[in-house]
Amino acid sequence: MFHTVICDLLGIDVPILQGAMQGGGGVELVAAVSNAGALGVLPTFGGTDSKLREDIAAVRQRTAKPFGVNIMPMGRGITERCVATCVELGVPVVTTGRADPGEAVVRSLKDAGIKVVSVVPIVAHAVRMEAEGVDAVVASGCEAGGHVGVISTLPLVPQVVDAVSIPVIAAGGIGDGRGFVAAFALGAVGVQMGTRFMATAESDLNAWGRAQLQDMKETDTIVTRAMTGATVRCVATPEIEAYERGLKDGLPEDELSVLKRAVRTSRTPTDRNDRQQSAMGQIGGLINDEPLVAELIDNMLASAAEISLQFPLIAGAQSQKVSAA
Ligand SMILES: Cc1cc2nc3c(=O)[nH]c(=O)nc-3n(C[C@H](O)[C@H](O)[C@H](O)COP(=O)(O)O)c2cc1C
Repeated sequence: MFHTVICDLLGIDVPILQGAMQGGGGVELVAAVSNAGALGVLPTFGGTDSKLREDIAAVRQRTAKPFGVNIMPMGRGITERCVATCVELGVPVVTTGRADPGEAVVRSLKDAGIKVVSVVPIVAHAVRMEAEGVDAVVASGCEAGGHVGVISTLPLVPQVVDAVSIPVIAAGGIGDGRGFVAAFALGAVGVQMGTRFMATAESDLNAWGRAQLQDMKETDTIVTRAMTGATVRCVATPEIEAYERGLKDGLPEDELSVLKRAVRTSRTPTDRNDRQQSAMGQIGGLINDEPLVAELIDNMLASAAEISLQFPLIAGAQSQKVSAA
């Protein structure tokens, strides 16, 4: 019932992508998502080439299904090395986040037969990525965890759908069958989720982050530049709130940089490698369990099917779009 054009494009059974997540979405999660018939996506942000090669090999040991690698266009050298590795190793799908990777990057991936899917926060970015030749876009609202823009999912998705002719996937604030069906009602042909996938048995989110997700309210996140310099939605920790307060109060740059360093270096008392800061989205307030990925996807689709029975026209309209494509 939910087999759409995005399933055919990416070779997956269900139209769900796991958004790449630095600090939450390691090899086990990626393989579990792909094995469940959706698309698992490896993060590369801040990582090295040898780690990427190790991760790709580890995913391939765990699944024969398609998976993706995410590129966050940063310094040119980093992006180009990552692209070259994806081409050399024949990665099936590359997703791009945060910024335009540039036409040359898109072309070299496409020439190698790799499907390219770009995350976009505004309509103009979607139009540009279509012109650069990507296969699909993820319209990601500012409810999402991670790097965000300022437009929320509900107004963003239909405006992107109207502006481009490639498939549109909805992201930002989707966590259950209701969000899934809503995305389809807006004209999307698939969804991408991050925060919801972090609260699963297979994610590598640390103990602190897992506890945050189980206790979270919808008001517990904040958008800050303190983490990476760009706007990131994450858990509103005392360190981030102190930085944001300082910014609002107009503290001088040197005092702000002390507060920023506190954000970037704070750790739990029990584990020096367990960073006490994490990107998370507003849908975290809905989460109160940690299922296996396969259970999460099965439950989501069952609930979406039940809701769709009440709205047969929605499912009908989307499947017409699929047959037309
Ligand atoms: C902890 C975390 C890390 C993320 N890291 C990345 C990343 O490295 N690259 C990227 O393109 N998106 C990243 N994202 C965004 C996700 O891929 C996804 O688009 C987003 O989480 C969707 O919104 P949701 O959290 O409301 O489901 C991250 C999100 C989270 C929560």
